[in-house]
Amino acid sequence: MNPAPNLILIGPMGAGKTCIGRRLAERFTLDFVDADQAIVDAAGASIPAIFEHSGEAGFRQYERQALQTLLRGRNQLVSTGGGAVLDPDNRAIIAERGFVVYLRVSVAGQLERLARDRTRPLLQRPDREQVLHEMAALRDPLYRALADLALDTDLYTPAEATAQLVLRL
Ligand code: S3P
Repeated sequence: MNPAPNLILIGPMGAGKTCIGRRLAERFTLDFVDADQAIVDAAGASIPAIFEHSGEAGFRQYERQALQTLLRGRNQLVSTGGGAVLDPDNRAIIAERGFVVYLRVSVAGQLERLARDRTRPLLQRPDREQVLHEMAALRDPLYRALADLALDTDLYTPAEATAQLVLRL
């Protein structure tokens, strides 16, 4: 197993970061930390409520603070929100504090996995497919640049994806 202080999962909504992250954490005996959950705990409000009251900019401030705090720790499997890589300070601390795994997923895969999701405010609109394509165009290069390892999750179930990563880590 890699000696970096943390194992950090990056990638878009619906890539399986939480699901695969929980499995990997168990496999490597790391503490599973979900950055979105840390934001909810710090704000005392759900992600949709944060977006409603503070907008995306307010959410990003909570996200930045949560990552700066939780990435001081070690021996964690950290699942980051899909937009965490947009902030240069987040990218810097992610690169510094972990071995970074990019979980990739196609827009078609996201649409299938997130079809009934109501917890992601950025997708609660009729043109969500277009939004996902635009996000991918902007974010995929950022994910790639940060990643030490990448896995295409379209091809695998969460259990298979975890097994693939265990072989490669
Ligand atoms: C977001 C992804 C979400 C959450 C928020 C914004 C994004 O996390 O942080 O809804 O901008 O892609 P997941 O990637 O864990 O769904």
